Amino acid sequence: MATIIKADGLTKKFGDLTAVDGISFEIREGECFGFLGPNGAGKTSTVRMIHCVSPITSGTIFVGGLPANVDNRKIKAMTGVVPQEITLDNDLTVFENMMVFSKFFDIPRREARKRTDELIAFVELEAKRDNKISELSTGMKRRLLVARALLNKPSLIIADEPTTGLDPQARHLIWQRLRLLKSQGTTLILTTQYMEEAQQLCDRLVIMNEGKILIGGSPRQLIDDEIGREVVEIRIDAKEDPHLIAELGPFARGHERAGDTLFFYCRDGREIQKKLVELDLPNTVHRPATLEDVFLKLTGRSLIE
Ligand SMILES: Nc1ncnc2c1ncn2[C@@H]1O[C@H](COP(=O)(O)OP(=O)(O)OP(=O)(O)O)[C@@H](O)[C@H]1O
Ligand SMILES: [Mg+2]
Repeated sequence: MATIIKADGLTKKFGDLTAVDGISFEIREGECFGFLGPNGAGKTSTVRMIHCVSPITSGTIFVGGLPANVDNRKIKAMTGVVPQEITLDNDLTVFENMMVFSKFFDIPRREARKRTDELIAFVELEAKRDNKISELSTGMKRRLLVARALLNKPSLIIADEPTTGLDPQARHLIWQRLRLLKSQGTTLILTTQYMEEAQQLCDRLVIMNEGKILIGGSPRQLIDDEIGREVVEIRIDAKEDPHLIAELGPFARGHERAGDTLFFYCRDGREIQKKLVELDLPNTVHRPATLEDVFLKLTGRSLIE
């Protein structure tokens, strides 16, 4: 697959604060590429440099072969952005918000009207077409942001935490729509703090923390390499700690402690399961490994605090 975005040594500073710290990555045409990380990791700062709304402090990014910060107009024309903040005009209706936005791309009025109606249907907001934004739920507003991002028929979509704060139903609808766009050949860039979202949607992703990329790869590969297939969680009381690690450690590839929980990482949990039965431990959970475990292992803390 051809490379659509290439970043080298990308850095963003706000005064003394380094929000993005010399990161390099490559995104391939047609894939869904994720930036996963906790609050303040630098995800929004990174994607804002990709779609040319935030000047690069140092380093380079090429989007479709064009240098960001130079060919901004062309890059913006090929990109659709679902921003993290809800940037809709509250006093206008759903339809009017779409029409106003279409002017940024010089879409002729007739065509804009046609696309607007199609896109409102695409995100299932027909019933709210003539309602003001202030009358919409958060989930509806986020769906409208997805529709608005598609007005210029972009080949690249950047969705910055598109499902934060949504209920499961609204989240699934956005996931389906993003998957549908990807199946039609659109490249997707997704930022999220939800490991489940990253696992569901991303072909490849990087995990960010404090402006740096900690690790990158496919979700499965990252989990397999860092953790294994399974995790055993045990709620503990501080004094049991050394005893449990001595008993269970030999059956695991590694362990981590976060708060009141001990995590044992296993390629195959069968052996440790037998031992758990033998020890008759209450409060244990045996589950498949996730990207959250990868983050915890790399940073000693969890993604969502
Ligand atoms: N315009 C700005 N001026 C000053 N500091 C900023 C600005 N934008 C972001 N920052 C700082 O840069 C760092 C990275 O922020 P950024 O918004 O990129 O993180 P994020 O990973 O998107 O976090 P979140 O999950 O909360 O959206 C933070 O410390 C933030 O306070
Ligand atoms: Mg952000």
